[in-house]
Amino acid sequence: MPISDQARAQMREIAARYPSARSALLPMLHLAQSEEDAITTDGINTCAEVLGITPAEVTAVATFYTMYKRERVGKHHIGVCINTMCGLLGGDAVWDAVVDATGASHNTTTPDGEFFLERIECQAACTHAPVMTVDWEFMDDVTPASAVEILDRLRRGEQVQATRGPVIRDFEATERTLAFPDDGLADAPSVDDKMLAGLKIAREHPIEGENA
Ligand code: FES
Repeated sequence: MPISDQARAQMREIAARYPSARSALLPMLHLAQSEEDAITTDGINTCAEVLGITPAEVTAVATFYTMYKRERVGKHHIGVCINTMCGLLGGDAVWDAVVDATGASHNTTTPDGEFFLERIECQAACTHAPVMTVDWEFMDDVTPASAVEILDRLRRGEQVQATRGPVIRDFEATERTLAFPDDGLADAPSVDDKMLAGLKIAREHPIEGENA
């Protein structure tokens, strides 16, 4: 599906938010990705045209950040953190289980277009390691079995609630939120007592001589 006239108008709206229009490129690319499920040549050319920069400049940005995909993602992006903390606590086993359950591998989409798998780096949620993300929403403290169950439920079209975040929608909807963040979904709780435990202890036991 090519970039729609509506999306093109919304890109201009995003560009108008910034004193320097080219600062809008990152959310514009997310909007392009929400339209086409990937960053396509059409998406790159549209961003370049709206911002008055070259397609090469847009491509340089789109290929630098791993959240922009040149291959179509499909319905759900599944990330499994395999960085140090998650890896030590079972992230690799979660990854193996997800690969076995879907038949896909790193940076590939299942033949039915349901899941795109990615081994991801630290998501700054190590307190809840091992962590899986679905369309960039957190699934905390997963096990191989619970991760596969989440995929099964998504495949059956059942409602899946992120551990700290909204009900899972789909990849394109998340990409739209990254372009237009004021959709009210940020009100979902994003931290919990476990994540704040260290801060609580630090406040209860201030380091001697620490400046107030
Ligand atoms: S290592 Fe996985 S969230 Fe930090």
